[in-house]
Amino acid sequence: MKINQRKVLLVGDGAVGSSFAFSLLQNCQVDELVITDLKKDHVNGDVADLEDIIPLESNTKISAGEYSDAQDAAIVVITAGVPRKPGESRLDLVQKNYQILKSIVEPIVASGFQGCFVVSSNPVDILTTLTQKLSGFPKNKVIGTGTSLDTARLKVALAQKLNVAVNDINSYVLGEHGDSSFVNFEETTVLGRPLAELITLAETDKEELEQQVRSKGGYIIQNKGATFYGVARCLAQICQAILDNQNLVVPISAPLNGEYGLYDMYLGSPAIINNEGIAQVIATPLSQDELKKMKISATQLAAILEQI
Ligand code: LAC
Repeated sequence: MKINQRKVLLVGDGAVGSSFAFSLLQNCQVDELVITDLKKDHVNGDVADLEDIIPLESNTKISAGEYSDAQDAAIVVITAGVPRKPGESRLDLVQKNYQILKSIVEPIVASGFQGCFVVSSNPVDILTTLTQKLSGFPKNKVIGTGTSLDTARLKVALAQKLNVAVNDINSYVLGEHGDSSFVNFEETTVLGRPLAELITLAETDKEELEQQVRSKGGYIIQNKGATFYGVARCLAQICQAILDNQNLVVPISAPLNGEYGLYDMYLGSPAIINNEGIAQVIATPLSQDELKKMKISATQLAAILEQI
């Protein structure tokens, strides 16, 4: 079946899925958006609600559908899964969300789908690794949102600290999207100059910034019950990079094959995204200490993957 290069199937129409659809339609030309979820009434309502923005944004055909609609889609976005409750870590969700993931990936592969999977369900690095394993797809066709959201959070925190515009900062959060993530301070630049030329950050300042980034999701969940706008916007950015063949560099859950001395798992690293999916994983230079943190993230995730 010929792929419709501008068709997206969204699996999971909770707060993240809905916000993703809203963001995608406002930022990118999509010919067809199909939404599926176990809660059929909610999908029907969302399709009708999203249709109201078509005249203002795009000419997208939006419909409620099934996994079989993946057969000619360019992208399947998976946001389905149980979300974190206050106090829970992302890793606490793994067993439940793996079962849900399995029930999604198998019928999608059976439909003949040949596009890219983009996953945001948590724990995202593990579920992205498992999506690739369950589907047997080439690794470059399976992408997770990874540390794209953490990187956005870091840029906001750094911009506030340094009193500069967010877009003047180039910096990445790497490793697990979760409690063992860390900042690549070694390569951080502000207006193209190394961060260290602008400000001397003590180790405690760096740790504080990392902690601020790690705890932001939990803070949002404590206060409003769920996080969705940030991750939804990151999902839309990755999809747009694929649909518009942008060659955009984004920190994602990337398939590591020797980068940072790691293999056989997806973990937060910058990568180039275009209509092939992941065109290239970019191993950013790390300090000794950062490399240690990357390995700690990897060891934790590998231990969980082994139990599945
Ligand atoms: C967060 C969720 C998406 O960090 O993991 O907001």
